[in-house]
Amino acid sequence: MTQALPYARLVGSGSFLPPRLVSNDALAADLATRQIETSNDWIVERTGIRQRYLADPGVTTSALATEAARRALADAGVEASELDLIIVATSTPDFVFPSTACLVQANLGNKGAAAFDVQAVCSGFVYGLTTADSFIRAGRAKCALVIGAEVFSSILDWNDRSTCVLFGDGAGAVVLKASDSPGIIEAELHADGSQMNILCAAGNVAFGQVTGDPFLRMDGQAVFKQAVTVLDRSARSVVEKAGMQLSDIDWLIPHQANLRILTFLARKLDIPTEKVVVTVDQHANTSAASIPLALDVARRDGRIKPGQLALLQGVGGGFTWGSVLLRL
Ligand code: ACO
Repeated sequence: MTQALPYARLVGSGSFLPPRLVSNDALAADLATRQIETSNDWIVERTGIRQRYLADPGVTTSALATEAARRALADAGVEASELDLIIVATSTPDFVFPSTACLVQANLGNKGAAAFDVQAVCSGFVYGLTTADSFIRAGRAKCALVIGAEVFSSILDWNDRSTCVLFGDGAGAVVLKASDSPGIIEAELHADGSQMNILCAAGNVAFGQVTGDPFLRMDGQAVFKQAVTVLDRSARSVVEKAGMQLSDIDWLIPHQANLRILTFLARKLDIPTEKVVVTVDQHANTSAASIPLALDVARRDGRIKPGQLALLQGVGGGFTWGSVLLRL
């Protein structure tokens, strides 16, 4: 076995949104045709969301993921053939199997890399990134592609106004390479399966039929309380493990669930809101795609600069959560 380099370094990022932009007003008008009442004011006041991008029928998670991956590879100057690990975080895979990662691998023309999906809902990207980091640190991979991608609109109950206004579709990707300098400095992952009922899509395909309830269900207030509690705790813990201070963080990039959660979290951590990357207003909640989308937007618009320190935090169904401290 070759000598493992001690760190996984981010060398490129990319993202992709489906072209159909739906404003709150357009969504409210559409829902009104089915006697479901909502408004731009309600959505903005409770969530900060102003618009979302929705995939047209037939557009798959692997299609969005592949486009984001191509952009990340181009940004990194890496050929698909160089990848030896492909991880896709998604809760809306194209198929029961093969994994979405295998479909992306085929689309990219890579042969031979390990390819698999991780399922940790809105924490999925942080789970995938931490898994890739562990592969690289162990010397089992040298060049990894980690993607968060969702067609979340496909599991929404469009008759439930308390959830359907919150989400959007999209994909984000990063390329990691083994390096002798960080990179991912510290990471931690957690779950509490006893809280599955506060956020779930408890359906399945079995015996040729859908069983259970295939739509997302959520206890919004319970999720809110749980999210801010675990993200606050995990941010402090991961920074302490790295021997750093919260004040060392240049950018907080949390899962983009809701502007109120982001603002509340930043206040609890005493991190100025200018240091929080916010895309939930533009993209809504894209589940596993939200963090890499936000990271890519802020890298490309020049906010995030090489050498800066970012704290990426995921939280979602399961209940799952985790944090990654990343030197860019
Ligand atoms: N438009 C208009 N009215 C609505 C809508 C809507 N889209 N949805 C709900 N309402 C109504 C309710 O029916 C209720 O009416 P009532 O008072 O007549 O009964 C009223 O608004 C208040 O409903 P609540 O559910 O109490 O609203 P709340 O202030 O809690 O806001 C929200 C709901 C935004 C979901 C909030 O609980 C929240 O931010 N939760 C965090 C969860 C979250 O962000 N989840 C995202 C996915 S999870 C994740 O990514 C980790």
